Amino acid sequence: MEARLIDGNALATTIRGELAERTAALQARGIAPGLAVILVGDDPASGVYVRNKTAACEKIGMRSLQFAYAADTDPAIVFARIAELNADPTVHGILVQLPLPKHFDSDAILEAIAVDKDVDGFHAENIGALAQGKPRFIPCTPYGVMKMLESAGTPIRGAEAVIIGRSNIVGKPMALLLINHGATVTVCHSQTRDLAFHTRRADILVAAVGRPKMITGDMVKPGATLIDVGINRLPDGKLCGDIDFDSAKKVGAAITPVPGGVGPMTITMLLANTLEAAERAAAKETK
Ligand code: GUN
Repeated sequence: MEARLIDGNALATTIRGELAERTAALQARGIAPGLAVILVGDDPASGVYVRNKTAACEKIGMRSLQFAYAADTDPAIVFARIAELNADPTVHGILVQLPLPKHFDSDAILEAIAVDKDVDGFHAENIGALAQGKPRFIPCTPYGVMKMLESAGTPIRGAEAVIIGRSNIVGKPMALLLINHGATVTVCHSQTRDLAFHTRRADILVAAVGRPKMITGDMVKPGATLIDVGINRLPDGKLCGDIDFDSAKKVGAAITPVPGGVGPMTITMLLANTLEAAERAAAKETK
């Protein structure tokens, strides 16, 4: 039997419908949820991501502001813009698209964002809150993965979860979330000695490395739930994930496709975090 498809597009559409209703409810109270997105440089992939994020905002009736800067911009200009947005009560979420040009101190930029507007959840304080099991903003991609596991009915408590990739954006916060939900978590990375030994034990396998089709069916435990965070472009222009879909689907019980899997969920959870930020700001005002 082939693995069930976990359809990110369908789940994203359902959740965005609920978010649109909550957005309208806030607007009826005179509050327009707003997201500010800052893009520095001309990385084509980042440009596409930022356009998709702002388009998704507008589609559910959320305000979006975009600030684009040339690659050689003085970081002081970006710090000044962040300070301005931190102080602007009409902006509820602030996102700086990564990666930044090399002359930027990315950590310092992320720390400059007000913690209650950090809808990416990358500020050290918000990562700390997640590590303590009291998250305030959950980083969007791991948040989306949790929603997909929930929709697939995959049990998390007591499960063996294996994550491939240890980035601050996906791997590390994914590990924290799965630990918080009761999984036994292993994080593999480029120095891991025997990757297949670990992946074959995984009830939940999350691949987030950016290497096309590196996880093949023989590396998968029968009945596993397979989550593919990778988006890689092949020489023929087609997109593929880090998991070899065709061989893995014959072994796993559920699998996310690429495209149409985790990607649409990441943007959806960004919208959810922005709305959450706006709702919290509104609750503070009416206190
Ligand atoms: N670059 C790749 N993924 C992300 C993300 O989720 N947020 C931001 N800000 N930059 C990214």
